[in-house]
Amino acid sequence: MNIKIGKRQLELKNVLIGALFFLITAFVFYLYSISFSLLALMFILFVYLNFFRRTDNLPSLLDLSILAVIAILIPVITTQFQVSGYGIAAIGLAILITLLFENLELSFVYSLFISFLAGEVSDRSYSVAISLLISSILASLLSFRVRRRFQVIQAGFLAGIAQFLIAYIIEAKSSFVFFSALDLRLLWICLGAGFLSSIIVLGVLPIFESIFKVLTNISLLELSDFSHPLMRRLILEAPGTYQHSLVMANLSEAAAESIGANSLLVRVGAYYHDIGKLVKPHYFVENLVNYKDVHKNLKPSMSKLIILNHVKDGVELAKKHHLNPQIINFIKQHHGKSLVYYFYHRAKEVDPSQKHEEEYKYLGPKPQSKETAIVSLADSVEAISRTVSEPNPARIEEMVRKVVRKRFIEGELDESNLTLKDLEKITQSFIRMLNATFHTRVNYPKDDSRRNKD
Ligand SMILES: [Fe+2]
Ligand SMILES: [Fe+2]
Repeated sequence: MNIKIGKRQLELKNVLIGALFFLITAFVFYLYSISFSLLALMFILFVYLNFFRRTDNLPSLLDLSILAVIAILIPVITTQFQVSGYGIAAIGLAILITLLFENLELSFVYSLFISFLAGEVSDRSYSVAISLLISSILASLLSFRVRRRFQVIQAGFLAGIAQFLIAYIIEAKSSFVFFSALDLRLLWICLGAGFLSSIIVLGVLPIFESIFKVLTNISLLELSDFSHPLMRRLILEAPGTYQHSLVMANLSEAAAESIGANSLLVRVGAYYHDIGKLVKPHYFVENLVNYKDVHKNLKPSMSKLIILNHVKDGVELAKKHHLNPQIINFIKQHHGKSLVYYFYHRAKEVDPSQKHEEEYKYLGPKPQSKETAIVSLADSVEAISRTVSEPNPARIEEMVRKVVRKRFIEGELDESNLTLKDLEKITQSFIRMLNATFHTRVNYPKDDSRRNKD
């Protein structure tokens, strides 16, 4: 059962789970005699995030609740070990949330919560709260959209130093004795909360990626270097598909950048979208050996089955290799519910009474995000661009617009959240990229005086 509150459609089950988490939180607060005004603050922020500030990369209510529990457990557990309040890893939590969801607002809200909670459990120390808050906000900013592990550790280290400096200043060390033994202890604690926690975050990141079913830039970058066994197999066993995926990745990445979508995710999604072709690579046009048409002696219904199955086979291969569900979405959705035209028409040629169009359609689902929609469009555009004879800018533009329009009219983009404005930007980006690719092959008119200059 769904209920609609503010801008968000919610499943009743998830609302109940969220409420249960809050009851548990309230109980923990009661046990540790933590002020309930803090719980009220968190509740208000939680409601704000959930119902009035819906953005694309906001986690589900359940995920937000899990994060809230983590934000409570960090200070509670840390104080059990008699560590000073400055040792509470607010920086670690801020980095974790920023890396997982690439949403600064979300990370700021949780930073605010954990910092004040840390202050509360440290004998209501406002210097703990303020230093943790500023340093964790800094950590979020420094780790936003980073792609390398080193940058994460650097963010943790710098935020740890900032935490120390703020704590040092607030605690009014006016004794002019710099770096006494006590201050040195404070420095180590702050570095532990920043530097050490960032290393721990990197270590536990894969666990959280699978819990929240997201992929961070760091994992995406690892997936994009062709060292993955599936990529190596693609290069050797289906070189045509590999080339197709490579060109598509470039087209998709530029298009994603033009509308502010996740370009790295799109690139990696494009690399893996057709891995299902590894099962029968030579049945796909780009991998034909010596241009021998293996479908010639097959019934259209058989050919159709092989073509349609590359999606199902791809999902199975991806699951076998433990690829993240976000990558599997690209495999599932890149053909949406489109029709395998070629074999459908061949089937109609063989048997004009053939009316079962549905049997010749992919099972879908249609692209569910801007990213999967871009890859789906780039897939069609790349495949058709190879068939354009004597490409020139006018022909390329006509071809791209025709492909995009067709997908749009067929309703393939209905569930993708793409706006018409996005679609125009994506179209223009495809045209630009293809013009650059075909530049060397472009035929200029014979009387073009610039011919030799270009
Ligand atoms: Fe495909
Ligand atoms: Fe493809």
